[in-house]
Amino acid sequence: MNPVCKLCGDRGIILTGEVAVPCVCVRQKAVTRLFKASRLPKKLLNCTLANFNFKYYARDCLDVEKGVSYYGIAKLAYQAAGNFVAKFMQDPNTDGLLFSGQVGSGKTFLACSIANALLKKGKVVLFVVVPDLLDQIRSTYNSVHYNGEYTEYDLVDTARQVPLLILDDLGAHNYTEWSRNKIYSIINYRLNHRLPIIVTTNITPEDLDEYLGERTTSRLLEMCRPYRLLVDMDIRALQRKEKDY
Ligand SMILES: Nc1ncnc2c1ncn2[C@@H]1O[C@H](COP(=O)(O)OP(=O)(O)OP(=O)(O)O)[C@@H](O)[C@H]1O
Ligand SMILES: [Mg+2]
Ligand SMILES: [Zn+2]
Repeated sequence: MNPVCKLCGDRGIILTGEVAVPCVCVRQKAVTRLFKASRLPKKLLNCTLANFNFKYYARDCLDVEKGVSYYGIAKLAYQAAGNFVAKFMQDPNTDGLLFSGQVGSGKTFLACSIANALLKKGKVVLFVVVPDLLDQIRSTYNSVHYNGEYTEYDLVDTARQVPLLILDDLGAHNYTEWSRNKIYSIINYRLNHRLPIIVTTNITPEDLDEYLGERTTSRLLEMCRPYRLLVDMDIRALQRKEKDY
């Protein structure tokens, strides 16, 4: 088989005179592994800060509570995402972020921008869609039919311990007591170990406790700075229209 790396022939080192130095491909391979381990879906790889488009956030619509335009609050959320990347590089115990807002307002996009930026810089990130995680945990209980690779402990413990966890769609679902307890145990562990979380949710911070309970909500709001994204139209619907024309 031909070597993949033309520089080092897949040996991982390059000899310059007597000295062996690591080849650039070693780092590239490590980043590829990090991306795989992050479980970030392929479709979300192009959600980057550079690709974030502000045209979807109206300058002439006002968030009445804050007196700031939709464009203005999107700017704040975007800046917070950029700042988080910089801060996390300096201090892995920095505060996390909570992006709330309507369906199709760019919450997952922003969270993934953070993940992509940090993965490229060699950081370990785990992207978890909350309802999927809960389903996966549940399926490990069904020992007769389950022949997957993980145990419940693997799934929950990875989410507890990974340096940066993205909890996508911690949204308005009907959480059972069981689900609430799973979410609580992940969040509580991370709070105690000062490990940041980036959350996306379509629940406003004021209504979070109704869905997640008081103990989890109180911890989340302690760990994550809240930001909102408001749009006058679902960006998904807008992009479908753009495609049709
Ligand atoms: N600022 C943006 N620039 C370019 N594309 C965007 C932007 N925000 C969102 N999109 C695109 O719009 C679609 C919806 O965005 P996203 O998935 O981030 O929404 P969401 O707020 O997480 O919605 P939901 O509550 O349904 O999860 C995606 O295809 C995404 O790539
Ligand atoms: Mg989303
Ligand atoms: Zn090489």
